[in-house]
Amino acid sequence: MNLRQKIEREIRERGPIPFSRYMELCLYDPELGYYSRNAEKFGKAGDFYTSSDVHAVFGRVLARQFEDMWRALGEPEQMEILELGPGRGLFAQDVLDWSEKKFPDFFRALHYTLAESSPSLRGQLASRFRRPIEAGKVSLPNPTGEDPSANSGQAARQSNHVTRRALAPEVPLVIFANEFFDALPVEVLSEKGSLRINMRGQNFVEQWAPASAEELEFLDRYSLHPEGEARTEVAVLSQQQISHYAEMMQTGFFVVIDYGYTREEQLAGRHLGTVMAYRQHSASPNPYEAPGEQDITAHVNFTALAAVARQNGMHAHKLLTQSQFLLGIGEANQFADAFEDCRLPQERAKVALQLKHLVTPAGMGEIFHVLVGSKGIHLKTVEGLSGLNFGRDAFRSSRWSLSR
Ligand SMILES: C[S@@+](CC[C@H](N)C(=O)[O-])C[C@H]1O[C@@H](n2cnc3c(N)ncnc32)[C@H](O)[C@@H]1O
Repeated sequence: MNLRQKIEREIRERGPIPFSRYMELCLYDPELGYYSRNAEKFGKAGDFYTSSDVHAVFGRVLARQFEDMWRALGEPEQMEILELGPGRGLFAQDVLDWSEKKFPDFFRALHYTLAESSPSLRGQLASRFRRPIEAGKVSLPNPTGEDPSANSGQAARQSNHVTRRALAPEVPLVIFANEFFDALPVEVLSEKGSLRINMRGQNFVEQWAPASAEELEFLDRYSLHPEGEARTEVAVLSQQQISHYAEMMQTGFFVVIDYGYTREEQLAGRHLGTVMAYRQHSASPNPYEAPGEQDITAHVNFTALAAVARQNGMHAHKLLTQSQFLLGIGEANQFADAFEDCRLPQERAKVALQLKHLVTPAGMGEIFHVLVGSKGIHLKTVEGLSGLNFGRDAFRSSRWSLSR
C-alpha cells in the first residue's frame, strides 16, 4: 500500500481528516512519510537547500555565537546544545568541528544533543556521529511519544515527539532550531472554518468544519480572522513544542531560525495562506500531489512562538533577519570563518558568493528570521551578544563589503 492509499483508507474509515493530520501523514508516517523514507531530501540531489547545505560558514558563525553565549553564562564547566530537527546533521558537524578548532575551552564544556524524530535520518546521524557518540560528546536520544500538551487530552502524535536532554536540568542549555518549526503540521483556517480533507472518487477534496475554540483563540491572539478567499495557518503543534522545551529550560538560550512573519505583517495583508510543497527544487502551492514524495511547509508565526516562550518564563528578544544576525556575529572579523580554508582566489570568490546567498536580501538573508530567547540570564548580558548587535559599531561595519 502506498501513502496515498493509506490516507484514503483513513479518510474512508474515520471521515474527513484535519489538514494537520494530512500533513502529518505526508511528512511523518513512520514508514511512508516524506521524512521517514530513505530518499535524499536535502541539497542538490534532494528537494530543497537549508543554510547548512549552502556552506559550513553557517555552522561556524553560529559556533562563534554559542561560544559567546557560553561566556555570557559565566563559562560554566558544562553546557548542552539541544538541536531540534537536525536532519542529516551538517550544522551540528560544522559547530562541533569549528568549536574544537577555534574555541577549545568552550568545546571541552560542550555536549551536543540531536533531537531528530525521523528513523531514517536518525540512522544517518548515528553513523555520522558514531565516534563522538561513543566518546560521550554527542547524544542521539530516542524521542518519546509523550504528548507535550498532556492536558489537552489529545493522543500523542508522531510529529509531536519530544526529546529529553542528556545532561542534568541545572546545566545551562542552548536550544537551536533551523527550519524545524516550518516542518510541523498546521491547521488551515478560512472564513468558512477549519480545513478538512475528504475523498471524492479517487481525489482529495477540501471541506470546512467549524473552527475549534483553541483555533479561534489562536487567531484572536496571534493572527487574524481571514476574510473572503484568504487562508491562514494555526500552528498548534509548534506552540506545544516550544512550550515544552521552554518550560524544561532552567537557564539558557533559544535560537529559532526560520522563514516566517509577525502578526503585524499579517495585519498588513502579508503571509496569508503560506502552505507550500517542495519537490526537486521547485515550489508548488498544491500539497495534495504525490503525498510522501514532496516536502510540505508553512511559514512560522513568530508572534505566537515568542508569546509562548514568554508564557514559559523566557525573555523573547527583538526579531531579527538572518542577515542582521549573521552580520552581527561576522562583522568583527569580516567573516574570516568563511574564508579560512580558501587557498586560491577562485575558492574565495566561490565562498563569497555562498556567504552572500546566506546574508543578502536577495538570498536567504531577509526571508529568514531569527528569534533569540533567554532565561535566567541578566538582560544586559544577553543584549551584549554579537548576534543581537549588528550595526553597533557602524565605523567597523562600513569598512568591508561582501563583494571584496
Ligand atoms: C526541514 S528539516 C530541517 C533540517 C535541518 N535543521 C536543516 O536545517 O537542514 C526538519 C527536520 O525536523 C525533523 N522533525 C520534525 N518533527 C520533529 C520532532 N517532533 N522532533 C524532532 N525532529 C523533528 C524532521 O524529521 C526533519 O529532519
